Amino acid sequence: MGSNNRVMSENAEFERQCKVNPERLQDSLEVLASFGMVPGKGITRPSFSRSYEQARAWLKSEAESAGLLAYDDAVGNLFIRYGDRDRPCVMSGSHVDTVPGGGPFDGAYGVLGAIEVARRLKETKENATVAFEAAAFVEEEGRYYDLLGSKALAGQMSLEEIEEARDSSGAPLMEAMKSAGFSPERFAEAKRESGDILAYVELHIEQGPVLESKNIPIGIVDEITGGRQIEYVFAGESGHAGTVPMDLRRDAFTGALEFIHGARAHVLETGTPGRVRTTFGTVEVSPGFPSRIPDRCLVIQEIRDFSQQKLDELVSASVAHAQTCARKYRLDVSSREICAASPARMSSRVTAKIREAAQATDSDFITMPSGAGHDAQVIASIAPAGMIFVPSKGGISHRHDEWTDFEFLERGANVLLNSILLILRDSNFDPTIQSEF
Ligand code: GLV
Ligand code: MN
Ligand code: MN
Repeated sequence: MGSNNRVMSENAEFERQCKVNPERLQDSLEVLASFGMVPGKGITRPSFSRSYEQARAWLKSEAESAGLLAYDDAVGNLFIRYGDRDRPCVMSGSHVDTVPGGGPFDGAYGVLGAIEVARRLKETKENATVAFEAAAFVEEEGRYYDLLGSKALAGQMSLEEIEEARDSSGAPLMEAMKSAGFSPERFAEAKRESGDILAYVELHIEQGPVLESKNIPIGIVDEITGGRQIEYVFAGESGHAGTVPMDLRRDAFTGALEFIHGARAHVLETGTPGRVRTTFGTVEVSPGFPSRIPDRCLVIQEIRDFSQQKLDELVSASVAHAQTCARKYRLDVSSREICAASPARMSSRVTAKIREAAQATDSDFITMPSGAGHDAQVIASIAPAGMIFVPSKGGISHRHDEWTDFEFLERGANVLLNSILLILRDSNFDPTIQSEF
């Protein structure tokens, strides 16, 4: 009888250790969503802005009041740590910057899920030999520089890139960083040494329709797409829209239009079938008056594919096509790459732990690729990484009406907590016995 009771209470204790606090998670998602929120228009919380820095201060105060250490690195990433400062760590996180008019979960869910894990480890006094860190990577959405925080941590950027980075209105990243109290010239201090991060797990909403359409609560990511953005500026000559004959014009928009049409067709024909994407999300025609011939057209092309080689070929072919179209209409064209993220495969060791965690929480799951970019694809270059997805209602994201029902958010956070526990308790992730990933 007595021993039965002990078994039951040990089981109850184990159960308790493996679950997040759902009310606290839900409350924290609601509070974080209020920073930068305009009712009906979504959340606009770009990195280093006032609302972003208010969110950072709130996250820090929450962590500190839970007895956890919170600190910023030199580039503006925020970390919340459970465990000794001098130990390597298992890390989980995402970002709290948003696209303009974004929703409440893209990034925020992964950061708050990770902080909830840190709180549970502290409350249950998890006795790990290594530390756990929750991370809020700065500037994932790329107002100034896509994936700035995770790239700085992985040692994948230079001071020149920081000096050149500007938002679409021309405002420099340097000024934004300084106004938030960071010294851009010290950004290299954010780089982590190899072996500092033993494993990385990112929790995120899917942002697409697959899980919902299959009625599956958990996606385990096996690979993340790579992406490139190229800016082209076509330059011609303005003039009177009625008097200059069509064959004597140097109409910048006409050249750009032919380029867009041809580059789109070429990318779709030659990229990885079914997996390649290209988008022309920014087209600015100047001077932008009906009776003036356009003398300038700026186009930003985004290309995504899961093959690095394909991406390289598609970018070169698109740039060459821009030059061909410019020649045809006697225009000048310049091009520059404004951001690049490599495709990444997730670690089979981390993915195995996520699978085990999904089973432990009785969660149906599928393995799936990510067509969206994530900090995990950068961290994968320095540590074994994995990702957990939960369904997005209607597959909608990067919109104010992005939504995921709380039952999925809670389940995903429990899968994250269990994944982290399994990794922390597995001596194969111990630095002294670490081998290949
Ligand atoms: C990330 O937000 C992306 O655009 O893939
Ligand atoms: Mn996003
Ligand atoms: Mn995101």
